[in-house]
Amino acid sequence: MGALGAALAAAALLGVTSAVLEVHVGTGSVFSVEGQRAVLPAWYTSRSQKKPYVTWLLDKDDADPFQVLTYLDGTVKVEETELKPRVGFLHPVLSHNISLVINVTREGDSGQYMCTVNVVDEATSTGKNVAVINLTVLVPPAVPTCHLHGSPAVGANVTLSCSSEKGKPSPGYQWQRTAPIQQVFFPPAQDQAKGTLKLTNLSLEMSGLYVCVAENQAGSSECSIALEVHTTSAKAIIAGAVLGSLGALATVVFFARRVIGYRRKKRDGQEDAANEIKEDAVAPKTPTWARRPAADTISKTSTLSVGGFGGGPKSLCVMSQRPCDVIVPM
Ligand SMILES: *[C@@H]1O[C@H](CO)[C@@H](O)[C@H](O)[C@H]1NC(C)=O
Ligand SMILES: *[C@@H]1O[C@H](CO)[C@@H](O)[C@H](O)[C@H]1NC(C)=O
Ligand SMILES: *[C@@H]1O[C@H](CO)[C@@H](O)[C@H](O)[C@H]1NC(C)=O
Ligand SMILES: *[C@@H]1O[C@H](CO)[C@@H](O)[C@H](O)[C@H]1NC(C)=O
Ligand SMILES: *[C@@H]1O[C@H](CO)[C@@H](O)[C@H](O)[C@H]1NC(C)=O
Repeated sequence: MGALGAALAAAALLGVTSAVLEVHVGTGSVFSVEGQRAVLPAWYTSRSQKKPYVTWLLDKDDADPFQVLTYLDGTVKVEETELKPRVGFLHPVLSHNISLVINVTREGDSGQYMCTVNVVDEATSTGKNVAVINLTVLVPPAVPTCHLHGSPAVGANVTLSCSSEKGKPSPGYQWQRTAPIQQVFFPPAQDQAKGTLKLTNLSLEMSGLYVCVAENQAGSSECSIALEVHTTSAKAIIAGAVLGSLGALATVVFFARRVIGYRRKKRDGQEDAANEIKEDAVAPKTPTWARRPAADTISKTSTLSVGGFGGGPKSLCVMSQRPCDVIVPM
């Protein structure tokens, strides 16, 4: 065999070996939830029985790539990074499985992990001995805070807001009324991204428990607001008288509260009580929501006793899950 033959043989050998040393990944992207374990599955093929040189690098958006873990001369070395106490090889490296394991993941562990393998007497073709796995650590929404903006008087508008300080990706917000009846809300009354729910033209029947659920792929969390729609004191007595005679439970409860409040005031001071009596004595304008034709009142009464809500257009769109353009009170 001449010099040319030797060169050709060497080239052939190189060609073969370059096809042999290759790094493979089980998947190009791994998702984990904060606090859980993440495995980045990778392994390599090689004909050589020599110990490999393995490095795992992390490339984050906001920093230069840095080494996390290496295997050199038969020794595992964990680099001084945030990951140090939590990162390692999942399997013995000599098994050729070089999967990376990260215990108790954090959001900041997210990034592009790059794995490179070299074996002393094996050549590689460009890029074949490198593999990349993207890790995304998701964070469930923190318990959101619910707020009421505005004064919940009959006829007024209020906005309920809901916001979670943590969560990746950013959570969506869904408001629901749970008591005394179930009700879901749609845009534009509800803004899922902002977490707001606008309630317009409030009525007493809109009082109840409103729950906001903040949710993303990693989980969900909720807060709630007990909305108590009130009238002015004089209107309250009239309302109590009108609706109380119709046997509406909610109003009876409301009326009872008014009476207790009145007695408390009376105990606290005669002057207050006198004012209250004077106010009661004045017959104000009938509240708009109490001004109903007789026939209408009967139908409303029957539905009131069932759940507290009328069978109006809103109830229909709620039940059929069609979007309600406006939250129209009964
Ligand atoms: C991994 O992330 C990089 C940078 O964010 C992106 O360019 C690449 O497409 C991602 N690869 C996969 C498999 O998702
Ligand atoms: C290497 O280990 C990972 C994680 O345990 C596993 O998913 C993968 O199948 C293994 N690869 C091989 C070639 O056995
Ligand atoms: C990760 O947790 C497992 C199980 O708790 C443990 O066996 C392993 O040693 C941990 N790995 C690292 C790198 O801390
Ligand atoms: C309540 O909101 C509606 C619709 O957004 C608006 O037309 C109305 O003027 C508002 N009422 C009050 C009292 O702000
Ligand atoms: C507000 O609600 C009352 C009944 O609850 C209704 O009579 C009135 O028309 C409503 N006003 C608006 C602006 O929708």
